[in-house]
Amino acid sequence: RDHNNGSRGALIVLEGLDRSGKSSQCSRLLSYLVGLGHSAELWRFPDRSTGVGKIISSYLSNNSQLDDHTIHMLFSANRWEKRSLMENKLETGTTLIVDRYSYSGVAFSSAKGLHFEWCKAPEIGLLAPDLVVYLDILPEKAAERGGYGGERYEHLEFQKKVARCYQVLRDSSWEIIDACQPIEDVEKQLKGMVLDCVMACQKGKPLSNLWP
Ligand code: TYD
Ligand code: MG
Repeated sequence: RDHNNGSRGALIVLEGLDRSGKSSQCSRLLSYLVGLGHSAELWRFPDRSTGVGKIISSYLSNNSQLDDHTIHMLFSANRWEKRSLMENKLETGTTLIVDRYSYSGVAFSSAKGLHFEWCKAPEIGLLAPDLVVYLDILPEKAAERGGYGGERYEHLEFQKKVARCYQVLRDSSWEIIDACQPIEDVEKQLKGMVLDCVMACQKGKPLSNLWP
């Protein structure tokens, strides 16, 4: 079955602190959409497979040091290098479920003390998501889940700062889900929001650029 009929796919972004459950929800969403006959793919940022992504990965695993501004622009460059493919996929009817996007870029860098508007600037002109869902969890609760991978930002004190920066970034268009609920409840709410969004895009909602 193909439900696309020449219409475009939706750009759906999940955001949240480390261990908020984004990755598991993203894969559940993908199976759900594919099961309904939609063309859909799961993407994530950073995309560690590219040249830029490898530099980012080495930085995150503390195998290299970089100036805060430099790594910020590399995270952004990592989205820019995927922009044309992203647009192409969307225009040819594929919905993209994206695990982190520009909002992570701004929240994590401004949590280090970088100027908020400066952090937003390199994201101007990237594709604007059709839906941003924030998986809301207290930093303390996320830390209790364990399994922080030991990467650079995976520390409670820093995650608390990131949470505050996400609060500054978020606007009324974001959907917020309480990520402390049972995984199935989060999944159910998410599915409803995503299906509505996919339908709206099929009906001709135009693509736009950041920042709206
Ligand atoms: P993450 O999705 O958490 O990867 P993993 O699931 O392998 O832990 O991303 C790695 C980290 O990168 C995460 O702590 C958030 C951070 N990050 C930024 O600082 N800026 C960005 O632009 C993005 C996309 C992520
Ligand atoms: Mg992580």
